This record gives sequence, structure tokens and C-alpha cells, in this order.
Amino acid sequence: MKPALLLSALLLSSSAVATTVAQVKAKGVLVLGTDPTFNPFEFKGPDGQFQGFDIDIARAVARDLGVKLEIRAVGFGALMPQSVTSGRVDMAMSAITITAERAKVVSFSQPYYRSAQVFIVRGGNPGKFAWPADVKGKTIGVQANTTGQYVAGDVLKPKGAVLKVYDDFAAGLADVRAGRIAALIGDAPTVTDLQKRLPGQFAQAGAALAAEDYGIAFAKNSDLAAAANRTLTKMKANGEYQKLLNKWIVQK
Ligand code: ARG
Repeated sequence: MKPALLLSALLLSSSAVATTVAQVKAKGVLVLGTDPTFNPFEFKGPDGQFQGFDIDIARAVARDLGVKLEIRAVGFGALMPQSVTSGRVDMAMSAITITAERAKVVSFSQPYYRSAQVFIVRGGNPGKFAWPADVKGKTIGVQANTTGQYVAGDVLKPKGAVLKVYDDFAAGLADVRAGRIAALIGDAPTVTDLQKRLPGQFAQAGAALAAEDYGIAFAKNSDLAAAANRTLTKMKANGEYQKLLNKWIVQK
């Protein structure tokens, strides 16, 4: 191999090295990757600013590391796990479910939110979609690379459902609203939030499909995961975590 090629091969392989606390502190910036279409966890406000439960937790992690938080919007399909494993972001928060499969390639923080996969239907459920009775022949939307897509492949497809895969969760919601699909699989708090923000337009149908826990994703074996755990443990103990739950998730 020519020296120049050898060098670039070395550089390429070293970019796969886990981002460390020391590296983040040296650059003074923690880069968060997130798919901001998922209220109340991550979304863009009318002013174009990122906000949500996950964003506030990410800010606390950066604060405790003594660095600035930089936020990049990445579609979920690219975010998990490629953006994390390739080191394009230092961490990902996007209502990411901790799974054994994902944990083979990324390191997760401790669980920070208990959630569930549910069916989102049009308000009033005019198509009368019910789970588990009505799956056969129904078109059900899922977001690419999400646990919703995985559980739908395992449980709904064998029952005769037709799956439609969306890169963009918001596009799936638009199709539910327009009646183009019977249901979209999403995370429980997103439906509650939709019902609050857009009264009458969306509803949940049937029981939850699967319970799950969210975690913050880091490059495999990065010591940033332990740093995030220290922040989460502290926030859970000092009431900051509960304040964020009340701000973003608890229904008033
Ligand atoms: N909890 C699901 C998963 O981890 C869906 C997350 C989708 N998040 C988003 N910001 N679109 O697969």
C-alpha cells in the first residue's frame, strides 16, 4: 500500500474509535444527534429551535461535562445506529429504545423513560381499526429502523398486515390523518401529546404492542455513557428529572 493510502486507512479506522469524555472536553462541544419529529421528546419549536424532554436531558449532560451542546437533526433511520457507530455524533437521544440487538453496536446509558409501542389512528377511529382483531389486510405505517418496525414485522406481518415504511414519522402521521393508512405505530407519549396539541385528530387504538425503555446511545464502550449515568442519577435524585417529566410529559 502506498504511504498516503496507508495513512488514510489508519485515519479511517481511528475515526471508528469511541468518542471519549476527554475528547469531548478538549473540543468543548458535545454533539447530539436527534430526529426532531417526535413530540414531546424532540421537535422544533415555531422559532426553529430544538426542544423537548430529550433535549433538556442532553443539555444537562453537556452542562455537567462543562461543554456546549451542539444539536444535529438526523433522520431516525440514519441515526440509529450509523451516526453513532461512525462517530458523526457523540451521542444520540431520540426516544431510542434500548434493545439487545442495538446494544451489540452502541453503548446505552441507564434507562431514562418507560414507554410502549401503540397504534395511532385517526381521531374517532372512523375505519374502526382494533388490535388484535383487525390487522389482516390493513395497511399499517412504521418508521424506518424503529422498534415499531421490528415489532410490526414480528407480530403484525404474520397476521396479514401490510406494512408501509416511513423515513419521516411526520409523513406517517399525515397519512393517518388523511385516512391513507389504517394506523401508524408510534410511542405512547407521542399519541398523548398529539391529542393535546391537535384535539380530535388522533387517537390510540387497542392495547399497547410492547413495553420498552429509552436510553441515550453512545459509541460502543465510550466512557460518555458513565458520564450520562451520573447526570441521570443526579437528576432523578434532586428533582430535576421530575420537573422535566412535569414540563413535557405529565398531562395537566
Ligand atoms: N422508540 C422507538 C425506537 O427506538 C422509536 C423512536 C423514534 N424516535 C424519533 N425521534 N423519531 O425505535
